[in-house]
Parts: sequence; C-alpha cells; structure tokens
Amino acid sequence: MMEDKIVGELSGRVTSYDRYVQSEGIPTHGAYYVEDLCNLNLGPWGRKGGNGCFINLIGSEQSTDCYVCEIGPGRSLKPEKHLYEEFIFILKGRGATSIWNEGGPKQTFEWQERSLFAIPLNAWHVHYNGQGDRPVKFVAATNAPIVLNLYHTVDFIFNNSYVFKDRYDGEQDYFNGAGKLYSLAGKSTRSWETNFVPDVGVFSLFEVKERGGGGRSIAFEMADSTMAAHISEFAVGCYKKAHRHGPGANVIIVDGEGYSVMWPEAGQRVVVPWRGGSLFVPPGRWFHQHFNTGARPARYVALKFTGSRKFPIGIKYLSSESARKGPDQIEYEDEDPGIRVLYESEMKKKGMAVNMPPY
Ligand SMILES: [Fe+2]
Repeated sequence: MMEDKIVGELSGRVTSYDRYVQSEGIPTHGAYYVEDLCNLNLGPWGRKGGNGCFINLIGSEQSTDCYVCEIGPGRSLKPEKHLYEEFIFILKGRGATSIWNEGGPKQTFEWQERSLFAIPLNAWHVHYNGQGDRPVKFVAATNAPIVLNLYHTVDFIFNNSYVFKDRYDGEQDYFNGAGKLYSLAGKSTRSWETNFVPDVGVFSLFEVKERGGGGRSIAFEMADSTMAAHISEFAVGCYKKAHRHGPGANVIIVDGEGYSVMWPEAGQRVVVPWRGGSLFVPPGRWFHQHFNTGARPARYVALKFTGSRKFPIGIKYLSSESARKGPDQIEYEDEDPGIRVLYESEMKKKGMAVNMPPY
C-alpha cells in the first residue's frame, strides 16, 4: 500500500551534470555565444590545478560542454583521467602534454597556438606550460554532460581503472600528426584520421561545393572517439547556405571576421558577431548561416557531439520530428531575401565587395 505522506519535492530541472558543475566551484558562462574565449572570467579550479570556467551555451543542450583552462607561467596542471571524451584546442601559448595508460609507458608531445588534439578515453594526461613568462589558455569540448547524466556518480567517471586499449595502447606514434585520408560516401568532404593537428590555421582543406560560399573543409576522426571535428573555410565576400542539425556542434572561429544568424523554424533570429577566438553553438534543429565580412577567408573548427564513424548517425540523432517536413539546407534561391539585403548592407558599411552568385 502506497504511503500518502510526501517526503520531499522532486526537481526535474537540475541534472547530475549541473550538480557536478556547481560542485567544481568555477564560473560558468551561458547564452548563445562567447565573443572572445581568451577574455572570460576564470576562477581557481581545484581539480585541475589551474584557472578555469565552464561554458554551457544554450545550443549545447547538455550533449557537449566546453571549458577554458589557464596554466600559469612555468606551471603544469594536475594529472587526471576520465570517462568522457575530450577535444582540446590551444588558444594561447605553447607547451606539452604527457599521456599514459594506468601502469603503461608515458609519452609526451608538444603543441602550440591553434593545435588540436584528443585525449584517449580514460587515459592519464597532464598538460605543461612550456613558457616561463606567460600563461597558456586552451578550450576543451567534451561529452561530459552525457556521461555524467548517464552514470551520475562523479567518482566512477574520474576514478575508473578500466583501460580502453582498443582506443590507445601506448603507441609511441599516436600523437606525431600522421594520419589516414578517407572519402565519405555520397559527399565531397574528406576525413583525416589522426590524433594531433599541429596547426588548425594552416591545415590543407578540400573544396566542398554543396554548402556554397566557396567553401573548403576537412573532417577529423580523433582518438577513436564518438565525438568528431571538422575545419571549414569560406571565401571573402561570401556567405554559406543555411542548414540545421542536432545540438552540440561547438564552432570556434580560428581566423576571420563576420557573423552568423541562427533561428528556429518559427521564431526570432539570433545574430552572432564573431572573429578569431569566438565560440558559438547553434541550438538543435535551428537553422544557421555563416557570413564572411572580413578581408581574409574565414576559418572555423567545429568540435561536435557525434559524427565520427563510431557514432555516424550524426548530430541529427536528437532531431525532432519536424525535420522530416522540410529540407535541412536552404538553397540560396529559396532563402529569405532579407538575408542577402542584410549581408550587402554589412559589407557596404565596411567598403567590401559582395562576391555571391545572383539568385
Ligand atoms: Fe552546422
């Protein structure tokens, strides 16, 4: 027989991941975008041994999160391992990372500004600042929200002895930047399987016509992860076609200047101004469109919830039913004419020429 005495109130709004973030005691930044990842309020982060902040933008929807971490001059962070995947992009400075499996040999590789690498699942790792006179700053995208919410025992995530040898078994060439090139069925995109990209800013790209804007890109498979990454670049005087997918694609501007527009199927547009060091995450199923207003090609790197061959179903996985009612890409001739009017007026203000095909 059920007792009718109420013993407490349940809140469906605070997740295990939220409680973990609160317990870490560092600032959290939200909203739709971060204008400058290097200019965020950070706090001392006991677990890491540096300064840091969480970034939980609206478009992440607790699929991925980001954090920024600062390593003081001549300092290192504390060693750690964890059961969530992590992609790291270096914002400022140079240094090194040591990686090892529990009881296995240690290996160390060096990185610099704009390097990208992935931490093999549950491998021990420690980051060092290689400069004695200035801090290092990096941003990491992880799938910690999914993992914390699934297991909701923080100790299990950070103190688990399982070694995923199928992902990383101490291979001494793991972080040397070598890789294998793949084509993707039905697409002109190419995929590079590697664990370390020395400089995202100069990495070679392949022409991709489908999304317009004179676009070039390359996808990455890293550390046998379910998370994925890609670099995309588009031309001066151009903007890309609008498209949409699920949440958790963290877009970090590597170089350039411009803005993106994001909107739900029926709702207000959000305009995101960006330049090198900006971050934004299009919310799930919101259309988004990228506009270059700078004098150089605009290049970004996207660190994504899924999309690797280990989770090829892509970030459409969390799509709503409404996706089936319409296309996930809007061709230029089908777009709201106000899109081009706004772009032309923004370019005129800067004295820049528009180089888009006529409708
Ligand atoms: Fe996108």
